[in-house]
Amino acid sequence: MKRILLSVLLAMPLMASAGSVKSPNGNIELKFSVDGTGRPVYEMTYKGRAVVNPSFLGLELAKDKHASMGLNENDLMDGFAIAKEETSTFDETWKPVWGETATIRNHYNELAVTLAKEFNIPKYTGDGTAPGTFLEPHQRRIIIRFRVYDDGIGFRYEFPQQQDLNYFLIKEEHSEFSMAGDHTAWWLPGDYDTQEQVTQQTKLSEIRSRMQEAVNWGNSSVAVFSPTGVQTSLQMKSDDGLYINIHEAACADYATMHLELVDAQTKALTTKLGGGSNAYTPNPTPSAWPVPKPFTFVSHLTPDATGLKGAMQTPCQTPWRTVMVSDDARDMLSSNLILNLNEPCALDDVSWIHPTKYCGVWWEMIVGRGSWHYTNDYPSIHLDQIDWTKVKPNSTHKANNENVKRYIDFAAKNGLDEVLVEGWNVGWEDWANMWKRDVFDFVTPYPDFDIKMLNDYAHSKGVKLLMHHETSSSTQNYERHLEDAFNLMNKYGYDAVKTGYVGDIIPRGDHHYSQSMNNHYLYVVKEAAKHHIMVNAHEATRPTGLCRTYPNLVGNESARGTEYEAFGGSNPDHTCILPFTRLQGGPMDYTPGIFVTKLSEWSNNTSWARITIAGSLALYLTMYSPLQMAADLPENYEKFDDAFQFIRDVACDWDESIYLEAEPADYITVARKAKGTDNWFIGGKCDENGHQSVIKLDFLDKGRQYDCTIYADAKDAHYETNPQAYTITKKTVKAGQTLKLQEAPGGGFAISLIAK
Ligand code: NOJ
Ligand code: CA
Repeated sequence: MKRILLSVLLAMPLMASAGSVKSPNGNIELKFSVDGTGRPVYEMTYKGRAVVNPSFLGLELAKDKHASMGLNENDLMDGFAIAKEETSTFDETWKPVWGETATIRNHYNELAVTLAKEFNIPKYTGDGTAPGTFLEPHQRRIIIRFRVYDDGIGFRYEFPQQQDLNYFLIKEEHSEFSMAGDHTAWWLPGDYDTQEQVTQQTKLSEIRSRMQEAVNWGNSSVAVFSPTGVQTSLQMKSDDGLYINIHEAACADYATMHLELVDAQTKALTTKLGGGSNAYTPNPTPSAWPVPKPFTFVSHLTPDATGLKGAMQTPCQTPWRTVMVSDDARDMLSSNLILNLNEPCALDDVSWIHPTKYCGVWWEMIVGRGSWHYTNDYPSIHLDQIDWTKVKPNSTHKANNENVKRYIDFAAKNGLDEVLVEGWNVGWEDWANMWKRDVFDFVTPYPDFDIKMLNDYAHSKGVKLLMHHETSSSTQNYERHLEDAFNLMNKYGYDAVKTGYVGDIIPRGDHHYSQSMNNHYLYVVKEAAKHHIMVNAHEATRPTGLCRTYPNLVGNESARGTEYEAFGGSNPDHTCILPFTRLQGGPMDYTPGIFVTKLSEWSNNTSWARITIAGSLALYLTMYSPLQMAADLPENYEKFDDAFQFIRDVACDWDESIYLEAEPADYITVARKAKGTDNWFIGGKCDENGHQSVIKLDFLDKGRQYDCTIYADAKDAHYETNPQAYTITKKTVKAGQTLKLQEAPGGGFAISLIAK
């Protein structure tokens, strides 16, 4: 039977031909072929200009100790012939549950190439012939599927179930992206455990020399792997003005991808990054495959605790590898490529998912004026050995009834939907970096947090509490308690949880972005959906558009958020880069809204936020998210109540979004139409150099008048010397008019346009 099946497969004609497919508007062309050794090769052009020069594709497999017949030693790198090529077109418009626009068009041309690799396995026939003299023919097939859009391409590897490919282990994926020049890149050091880095802006050829100082060695979990390893989403710009972005879409049951740049000094891939106690060498035997030419990025997957990159069972597929391109930077921001490459919504009922504006018992702990923990009297705690009613409280615990009520009152008064409370549950006394498995139980409140009373109090005022589950990266512990934790949330009426993964992963040896951890994050999202709970995961892997399929994944951190303004500060251009990079895969819980930027004005923290108040308001538009925090303290907002009006008014779900101006790391201006209304909001944010913004109001309804309120930097505003200087101007405007706004260094503006 097996022999018959094989001979049918082998009878398929194997071609060496090359395929080509263009984007619907013809601007992008993708070509595919296999070379003389049977290695798959693709290339990509935009308006006739090279975006990706000929680049190899393939996967290197690891030897599986359980594999019979040595099959797993057979790499999916070369020896392929084309068995089939199919082209097709797809055009559909779908409606996201929440988003930047009411509808999204998914329009692409597709090329699916089936590749076959034939090989022989020595077999003992049992008839007395010498072992190994009979060679049994075998074949493996994979499909490489390309989708070509007007704004970029996606491709993935698919592994159909077949006789000779059922289970396999991935040593490394070798997808190459050969760049056509020494582009400018906005990059983060490639790291298996943190994305909370400062974006570097250098030429590709300068990545190596910048790497050592680029690494945030102080983060609670750091594992860099190469002097030229960078993260995705990677934004680049060519000298002749092409914007190119490499990322991935639909990363599920697979490790997160990094990119390792081949430069003039690269001798072998994956060499050790020297210096620093956390420098990491995951792969002591460099790949046997030839090193590509300089300016080529090669995929580098995050390993698990075994050092391998993936355990696969067919049928299965990799995530999509994406390359976006345009000669207009605004197209990078309005692209829906990543969402379109994800599967449609998997949830039947989404009525419980809603955009959310929230404040929280949070910033005062981050800056160090209060504590998450309840007592200072124990050097370490065992959750099952403490009678919390007998423990002496410290005076710094902020998740106490009185303080939480104060935030609930503030939320109710200002129309905020929810109040995050961190430090409500027992375990914070020794929570981080102790390799402690049983660190939290997620159900036991501290004695001064009356969970029933506070939820009832909030609900009586039309507000909900937002749950917090810091896991300390102890993932088995979290999974053990998850059902009870979500039941507790259902019981008291919480409908959203902020999770967190601070510190190295427990069980030890695993990494934040491995296949097993990516499975954990998605497991939590799926379990949460069963309980009608929305998830906002901090320190989890960077998003790849899975929020289309699971729209209860309303937020992620996965980058350097506002908390870093209390840890030394972020550069003023940070928020002018994130929409080009981190936000490509999904919204970020950036937690904007800091009004009192000099933290020493109200705490002992000498750090300061590098932004003006008008700039802080702009972030509610430029950093798209259905979940927006007003992160500063109620008393700080009360000092600037006229500016806070914008946070009260601004929507966080939209029918239309138009990017008006954009340049990576310089400025972003966007106009958005609030969901289900005729009202528009416009935000502009710039870097340390300031920006003159010119806005033509030609998107407004013709003949209609709008009450326009402009929150702008005052003439002498400056993120360092004068951050709280702003003006508020009111006027009536109509379509066709032009607004000119001067953004201060590190500043911005915010505008509301309410239809009359
Ligand atoms: C890091 C998160 O980003 C932050 O928001 C949170 O307060 C702390 N972890 C504690 O969970
Ligand atoms: Ca964080």
